Amino acid sequence: MLINFNGELLQPGEAKVSVLDHGFLFGDSVYDVIRTVNGRLFTAEEHLARLRSSAAAIRLEIPLTNEELLQEMNRSHTASGNSESYIRIVITRGEGEIDLHPRSCPKPNWMMFVLPLHKWPAEWYTSGIKVALVGIHRNPSTALSPKIKSGNYLNNVIARMQAADEGAVEGIMLNPEGWVTEGTTSNIWIVKDGQARTPALRCGLLPGVTRALVLELATTDGIAVDECEISKNELLDADEAFITSTTKGVVPVRLIGRELVGDGRPGPITKRLEQLLRDREQAN
Ligand SMILES: Cc1ncc(COP(=O)(O)O)c(C=O)c1O
Repeated sequence: MLINFNGELLQPGEAKVSVLDHGFLFGDSVYDVIRTVNGRLFTAEEHLARLRSSAAAIRLEIPLTNEELLQEMNRSHTASGNSESYIRIVITRGEGEIDLHPRSCPKPNWMMFVLPLHKWPAEWYTSGIKVALVGIHRNPSTALSPKIKSGNYLNNVIARMQAADEGAVEGIMLNPEGWVTEGTTSNIWIVKDGQARTPALRCGLLPGVTRALVLELATTDGIAVDECEISKNELLDADEAFITSTTKGVVPVRLIGRELVGDGRPGPITKRLEQLLRDREQAN
């Protein structure tokens, strides 16, 4: 792993954040994850737009322009020597007093964690994964908006542990009204009667970059899509299900808890969308 810490390229052991950084003390930070495809940043503008929107929501000023962020990501990726990189940009509030208000933090810290892109097991794509409906809710938009990709990910951390307890790769959270929202680091989709459906943003979820791209690819390809409320029963009764994320792409879901999805094999629409996304990536 290589770390770009405020513009300095460092090894993990060399990059140090103060214990008085509010990112550490209060989770007062934002982040986003970008990957390369064919050695080039993929959907970088969309990720930077979301990073800016996350930062604006917590009144955090990003100390670099988008152009500078792109330059720094490219420089870090090249220096890493990775053929494909996972790049995690984190902006923290910076060092200050032990006081929730950030007025004592004059200088945000920014960093980019650059790792070789992880390869997920091939069976995930050929056979599908297991997800679990977890007990913890996605935090409601009226509390901490799930649209903010922040260092405050504790309910997702708990959800991930609850999912792992059931041997599932991903935990699917409901909102307090009982509607399906998303996974801990992915968006969830179902296919019913030939239509691909994903929870509407109003259900309280992160506007996934891959989610938006898959919506666009499906529409262009003539696949019917809907962003809507999805109940737990509709999820369990789906003909097909899959998750989407930047690092995983489209991954078919085989099991939701103990329930088999459809006939237990990745369905035609899931496979088509997976292929469309791969084609788009290869055009990068
Ligand atoms: C909570 C949550 N939902 C959805 C996603 C998927 O978003 P994207 O497609 O932009 O990676 C992520 C990504 O990590 C996430 O953390």
